[in-house]
Amino acid sequence: MDKIIIEGGRKLKGDVTISGSKNAALPIIAATLLTDKECIIDNVPFLKDVEVMNKLINILGGKVEFEKNKLCINNKEINKFKAPYELLKTMRAGVYVMGALLGRYKKFEVALPGGCVIGERPINLHINGFKKLGAKINIEHGYVKARAKKLRGTEIYLDVVSVGATINIMMASVLAEGVTIIKNAACEPHVVDLGNFLNKIGARISGLGTREIIIEGVQKLNGGNYKIISDYIEAGTFMVAAGITNSKITLQNAPIGDLEAVEDKLKKAGCRIDKKENEITIYGVDRPNGVDIETLPYPGFPTDMQAQWTAFMSISSGTSVIRETIWEKRFMHVPELNRMGADILVKGNTAIVKGVKNLSGAQVMVSDLRAGASLVLAGLRATGKTEISRVYHLDRGYEKIEEKLEKLGARIKRSKENR
Ligand code: EPU
Repeated sequence: MDKIIIEGGRKLKGDVTISGSKNAALPIIAATLLTDKECIIDNVPFLKDVEVMNKLINILGGKVEFEKNKLCINNKEINKFKAPYELLKTMRAGVYVMGALLGRYKKFEVALPGGCVIGERPINLHINGFKKLGAKINIEHGYVKARAKKLRGTEIYLDVVSVGATINIMMASVLAEGVTIIKNAACEPHVVDLGNFLNKIGARISGLGTREIIIEGVQKLNGGNYKIISDYIEAGTFMVAAGITNSKITLQNAPIGDLEAVEDKLKKAGCRIDKKENEITIYGVDRPNGVDIETLPYPGFPTDMQAQWTAFMSISSGTSVIRETIWEKRFMHVPELNRMGADILVKGNTAIVKGVKNLSGAQVMVSDLRAGASLVLAGLRATGKTEISRVYHLDRGYEKIEEKLEKLGARIKRSKENR
């Protein structure tokens, strides 16, 4: 197992290129199962989760080539319909093969991924959607098994706005007979990106980016080329890196319109932001103002930026209230930040962050992807050495993170952990 060591307290400077979106790449890779034609997907981040999704496609009988952020996938000869627990337990996005297999082959057998450190993560809304489209579902021995003679378009209302359920239902319905309407749908940029990809290969989806997505079933999908959008959570993380180290950083290949909620809070904290074309420049502050946030579905403040924001607020000049409404257990970074001198109290789904003057480097442990990002940010700001263990969580979602930070002037290196 690797660990990351940061000598903190240094300013950063320069440009960083934002990678393709993890949460768009994963469903788009799964969606290639909907066609027997070749798909070439560009701007795919080289991440552990992407590797696992590619492996899953291989297991099902698909062919995947991945080179220089370009994926070439051919799913002409899919001959297995079972996604094993060994893969699903390491990457929850494996559930996306459910919608794609059901859509094209009218059957699947996919392991239930189980709980996760940030919350329970049920998939009841996905299952209800499949049932409404006409699938028969059985859950036994830890697997969800589905079969359908035919899928018919229908109206599906999601009780809770869910990225995963919206994606799975979209994929299951693109080849269904008639029209499917998803109400109270998710409008995250990666949901829109999946829809754009499906439309590019012949689907008929409208209402993307709104709470009502309309899918007119088509008989067949084609292949084609597609470029994935930039990762707005990676971009937000680098913006907070500038904020927390009082630095000026320019993001290249930046997701310009996708980060408004985070930009608004950064400005309230005292940061300056300049934008042009695909470029965002951010200027940090020595001690930000305390700014409250509440995580919400898009276009609200993203839960995937909550941990990073908590790290930022830990050195604010005031007090801030962080309310997490999406994942009930997503405060695992707090005890670690407190080990670095932060003053944060968690009560239920709320963290009260009293800003301190500075953090001090310490040995800390990563519990999940975004918690890992928050500890890296804290380490960049802290005086002295921060040693971050269990960084495999970070490798699931941040492409070349040490390389990018090093280029910006951070003293950061990876080394093997002593067991
Ligand atoms: N929910 C249900 N039933 C369902 C599905 C979801 O009650 O059937 C609830 C969840 O418990 C949660 C809320 O709905 O309270 C939202 O969950 P959602 O389905 O939107 O989450 P997800 O699809 O499992 C994706 C991202 C997460 C991100 C969330 C919220 C991917 C691969 N994962 O998860 O990303 O936090 O949306 O935006 O896209 C991350 O990248 O670090 C990450 C965890």
